[in-house]
Amino acid sequence: MDHKSVLLRKYLYDEGIDPDLRRLIHMVSVAGKYISAQLKAANRKMSGTQNASEEHQLEIDKKADVILQDMITQLDYVAEYASEEQEVVIKTKHPAPKYSVSVDPLDGSSLIDVNLAVGTIVGIHRCEKLIDSGRHIVAALYILYGPLTTLVYTSGKGVHEFVLNPEGEFVLSQTHLQMKPEGKIYSPGGLRTHWTSAHRQYIDDLITTGYKLRYSGGLVPDFNQILMKGGGMFAYPGLINNPEGKLRLLFELYPLAFICEQAGGAATDGVTPILDLKLAEIHQRAPIYIGSTTEVEKAKGYLST
Ligand code: F6P
Repeated sequence: MDHKSVLLRKYLYDEGIDPDLRRLIHMVSVAGKYISAQLKAANRKMSGTQNASEEHQLEIDKKADVILQDMITQLDYVAEYASEEQEVVIKTKHPAPKYSVSVDPLDGSSLIDVNLAVGTIVGIHRCEKLIDSGRHIVAALYILYGPLTTLVYTSGKGVHEFVLNPEGEFVLSQTHLQMKPEGKIYSPGGLRTHWTSAHRQYIDDLITTGYKLRYSGGLVPDFNQILMKGGGMFAYPGLINNPEGKLRLLFELYPLAFICEQAGGAATDGVTPILDLKLAEIHQRAPIYIGSTTEVEKAKGYLST
């Protein structure tokens, strides 16, 4: 197949997925193009407000959320929209609900200041199943705004990457991305002085067995690097002063865990697969170890004793 000629629209059509799911993923991709254009406008201004997790918002954080909410909730089969930037779930009251959507509009936006890569993360769940577990996800994707803008998605039929071309189209670049059972890079979040001794021993094990450090402080580029290199491990652990860690289960962890499992990798909080963790409220956090199966199994060995 000549990848250069295959547009996201056509690939989604050929995958034979539900047309409503196809339109939903397409809408998110259009939102991603707008957000990418906004980022290129060098918008680094603070908005003067904070999000639901009391983090300071940039104007672009809020803009990205508005773009995604408008594009997604206009589809008359979307039941719920939950955003990391908002306190509560938006219920659309559309008459024939089919899917609900979680979004982290601009993850890692504190890196915009220093011109590092940031991303949008989206999880698509079966109707009104946002507050349950990750096992109702039917599709997940992220858009990475780096030197290239790329979109990586899965609808449960493998993981595929598209690149935004100068004409403004997402064009296929790689299909059926796979993680090897073992990689050679590690990406560890959280302040070292707040790591537990089990986590510290695990990281020491990776270092002594020759893993290279790769950490930008942006979840999307850090996870993307592991996926594109074909393996390795990203961790944001539970910390001594914060046992649930930092990252949000609904907005960040479920979608990436779904993508990772689809690529032959795994994701755990140290004991339980991320997708099996129960969600009680939308801004709930959890620790994560995600990547190649060997590294994830090794993490469980250290963490569950
Ligand atoms: O959730 C926001 C985020 O910026 C993630 O993108 C990233 O993985 C993490 O926080 C970085 O946190 P820390 O600066 O504590 O390593």
